Amino acid sequence: MFTTALAQRVKTEQGNLPLDLFAAIETLKKELNAVILAHYYQEPDIQDIADFIGDSLQLAKAAADTNADVIVFAGVHFMAETAKILNPEKMVLLPDLNAGCSLADSCPPEAFGAFKAAHPDHLVVSYINCSADIKAMSDIICTSSNAVKIVQQIPKEQPIIFAPDRNLGRYVMEKTGRDLVLWEGSCVVHETFSEKKIVHLKIAHPQAEAIAHPECETSVLRHASFIGSTAALLKYCQESPSQEFIVATEPGIIHQMQKKAPHKRFIPAPPLNNCACNECPFMRLNTLEKLYWAMKNRAPEITLSEDIRLAALRPIQRMLEMSV
Ligand code: 13P
Ligand code: SF4
Repeated sequence: MFTTALAQRVKTEQGNLPLDLFAAIETLKKELNAVILAHYYQEPDIQDIADFIGDSLQLAKAAADTNADVIVFAGVHFMAETAKILNPEKMVLLPDLNAGCSLADSCPPEAFGAFKAAHPDHLVVSYINCSADIKAMSDIICTSSNAVKIVQQIPKEQPIIFAPDRNLGRYVMEKTGRDLVLWEGSCVVHETFSEKKIVHLKIAHPQAEAIAHPECETSVLRHASFIGSTAALLKYCQESPSQEFIVATEPGIIHQMQKKAPHKRFIPAPPLNNCACNECPFMRLNTLEKLYWAMKNRAPEITLSEDIRLAALRPIQRMLEMSV
């Protein structure tokens, strides 16, 4: 972290980087009338400078409600794209345009179009972790925090395709008792958690509660005493009397958990191999430096064709109406 506000400068590939990045970003925020929205999986410095931190539903709502002229989205591409779909007149900046999502990538539009055509009577409920093209082919969008609630509102006789996350889909099936046609997509990060290592951790920490994101596989979810979106996990560990938690989601969320409950202990669930692959390689492409340059250069900017934007807006609005 940079510690002085003096005009010391560090040479970077793009030019001179102010040493006090936090102060420089605050100045740019005023100049641009910008708001910084950040997901819980962002690095701690980004979370600390953000105006709003949230899960994907909270971030979509914050993007829909903002009065700022510029939205700086510290998250992944589909999240920034959702902000643009909701705000065509605003500039939406993403610090690194390569910050994609393996789950969104697991559902290419052409193949999904054929899948949809093979199930003509089905309503399409898509998880927000998908591209604008997939949203445009969907009837309702959902997030991990409202997927169960949304499926429960659909008449029982209506057949449903659920895309692209098979793990969230299975979880929704279990919670609602509905039979969903699942697209076989998944998240590289949430599929990396090892059931065996979680069981060993539970034995070593008998007082600890395991909590998990519904993108994890059933074999991991079955060991969790609470399953929820990133925001729900954060709320749960503040409210639970437990003092120790094994956290099966991207460990970026632990920064907020430690801030909100400093006296509690949070143990990141270990991946299968001894790698850092429980960190989302896409989310972590964003850095404080790239966030500064994005604001300074007003780029990279999210752009969308108006046809796709309008088609993708309809199912997002349905989600917002159904999750009040
Ligand atoms: P949340 O909706 O819980 O924030 O999840 C987003 C995500 O990408 C999880 O991998
Ligand atoms: Fe996508 Fe998984 Fe990263 Fe979430 S954690 S943004 S689902 S790759």
